Amino acid sequence: MTEKSPASVTKEIEELVKELNYHCYRYYVLDSPVISDAEYDKKYRLLKELEEKYGGVLPDSPTQRVGAPALEKFDKVRHNEPMLSLDNAFSYDELREFDKKLRKLLGASEDIEYTVEPKYDGLAMELTYRKGFLLRASTRGDGYEGEDVTRNIKTIMSVPLKLEGPNIPEVIDIRGEVYMDIREFEELNRQREKLNEPLFANPRNASAGSVRQLDPRITSERKLHLACYGMGTVKGMAFRSQSAFMAWLKDLRFPVPARVVIVRGIDKVIHAIGQLEKDRGSFSFETDGAVIKVNDFQLQQKLGVRTREPRWATAYKFQAHQGTTIIKDILSSVGRTGVITPFAVFEPVKIGGVTVSRSTLHNWDEIKRKDIRVSDTVIVERAGDVIPHVVMVIKDKRSGSEKTASLPLTCPACGSAVVREEGEVAIRCVSLHCPAQVQEKIIHFASRGGMDIEGLGEKNVELLYSRGLIKHFKDIYLLKKEDLIELPRFAEKSAHNLIDAIERSKHATLARFLFALGILHVGEYAAKLLAGNFRSLEDLYQVKPEDILPIRQIGEKIACSVHAFFNDRKNIDLLNSIIKLGMELSNPDFSENRKSSLLLEGLTFVITGTLPKSRKEVEDLIRENGGHAASAVSSDTDYLIAGEGPGSKLAKAGRLGVKTISYEIFLELLKGSPVQQNLF
Ligand code: IVH
Repeated sequence: MTEKSPASVTKEIEELVKELNYHCYRYYVLDSPVISDAEYDKKYRLLKELEEKYGGVLPDSPTQRVGAPALEKFDKVRHNEPMLSLDNAFSYDELREFDKKLRKLLGASEDIEYTVEPKYDGLAMELTYRKGFLLRASTRGDGYEGEDVTRNIKTIMSVPLKLEGPNIPEVIDIRGEVYMDIREFEELNRQREKLNEPLFANPRNASAGSVRQLDPRITSERKLHLACYGMGTVKGMAFRSQSAFMAWLKDLRFPVPARVVIVRGIDKVIHAIGQLEKDRGSFSFETDGAVIKVNDFQLQQKLGVRTREPRWATAYKFQAHQGTTIIKDILSSVGRTGVITPFAVFEPVKIGGVTVSRSTLHNWDEIKRKDIRVSDTVIVERAGDVIPHVVMVIKDKRSGSEKTASLPLTCPACGSAVVREEGEVAIRCVSLHCPAQVQEKIIHFASRGGMDIEGLGEKNVELLYSRGLIKHFKDIYLLKKEDLIELPRFAEKSAHNLIDAIERSKHATLARFLFALGILHVGEYAAKLLAGNFRSLEDLYQVKPEDILPIRQIGEKIACSVHAFFNDRKNIDLLNSIIKLGMELSNPDFSENRKSSLLLEGLTFVITGTLPKSRKEVEDLIRENGGHAASAVSSDTDYLIAGEGPGSKLAKAGRLGVKTISYEIFLELLKGSPVQQNLF
């Protein structure tokens, strides 16, 4: 660096600080940067060099956000005005009551104007600005006295260190919520899991734990956000309403709640809350409710406060996604392929309006990792159409009498020895005679995606199996009406219908039949690919892996499994005997030189909500064009196609950064148009 005059350095530093703060705002508050990260870093390094060489560090310099040393303990801070909490309403009726009471207190004949915004599940914070500079940040504490966490809050990039603008009050206490995005929270827990550190139960605990760190360096690594929604003391300025205050906050570059609506009358409030609850899954942050505030500050003042809560505001609580319960037992079940899966039985708990009394524990490694024991108190989550799962154990609630569940040495259904193959997490029962597997295989064979035999679901399979009428799925084709009529669940008509459905299934497609057979790793999609490349079932007899591998999107695992299945004499005998019983498979999927347009090759799609075409039709379209249709959103998903009333998959896609497109855009993709942006 060449020598510069003090005046020019001061100016350069000032300009760099201003510029960098603007870019922080674009990036962290507006989420719309106008320069690259590399350009930002370059300017930041230059500023740091100038500051180190010439001194003159400005209080709002971005370099001042990091680097403060660790503290021994936090100082206490008394709030100028107490930080209140909110009353709760748990139903729309209670909200109507709230509005009625306010109108009565105000003697108002007209509807009241309210603001409605999401309630952030984080940690309440007060930021004191004096003469436009951030002086102090403190936690809510007991409402009267909190802790000084200024150095930690400065590491949150969206917190303005200096207020810029024509209207800066002498002193202002801004209140808001520090929170963590769901995605960051999950990532943090993943890291902690790897390091064997205790997990955070929810984003709120994670934000609180991150803010209350004595070492600000830890806080700075936690990717926290702020949403400002209120104020304490203000000197030298006055606001007319909550919405005017919010507009001012926004002008001053404060981050504000994601969606604030201003409506008149309780009916519109309720409508706005309904919208929020509907969309809550698509937010990047966790919200457990909506906050409703009287907009006019004069009216707020008239209404005043009770001891701990203002009369002019309330929180409406959404239905919970999580619940706490106790594990009564850990049991296991055997699936069609012999995999033994542990599951937990709980004290029934109501979550989001549904009673949950069991959940899968996935596998024994998961139990060990989460250290789940019988009698443990656990947090259970059930979000949208996702099956319930155990989030974590509340270890503080342990009494010492909890029991670890031991790995089963024998199959819970047939008592045969179990095996665990090297490198696999799954434990399997490999007995060919395991009744659980046989029954599951029959259920799968008859299921809707398989041979689609109506009337042959889980219950009836169990019954027919226990009566010895079917021991294997081929026996389905030996069933007679007379056998069925004898059974407790059957009458003349239902027996007739089942026999009819069985007859109809004899005209299935090869693809369906291949899927129904339950060959390891062969799902609906792989079955369809096989049918597209082999004219008939017999063409698959004695197939070699090298005949299958050239099929695009069929990997070694499937190829080996198909090879093993068709090279087993017993299996071929079974297939022949089924064919003898009258099976006449058609194969509309086969084409001599299979070559459909492969515009979607290598792309994985997931569908949510209602589309103009049936889900099945859209999935077929995806497959015909070389794409893959999956049922759950994961990091491997390329596009989520969202229709009317999307489910929790939309939120998950948002969190994972998966592109979400409408059905119309999907049709555009099929024409070969590129899709650049998220449409939701
Ligand atoms: S207004 C006078 N708005 O909820 C009440 N609070 O249960 C001032 N919270 O302590 C609060 N999001 O920590 C308000 N949009 C929002 C909020 C919100 C979250 C928290 C806040 C408060 C608690 C009350």
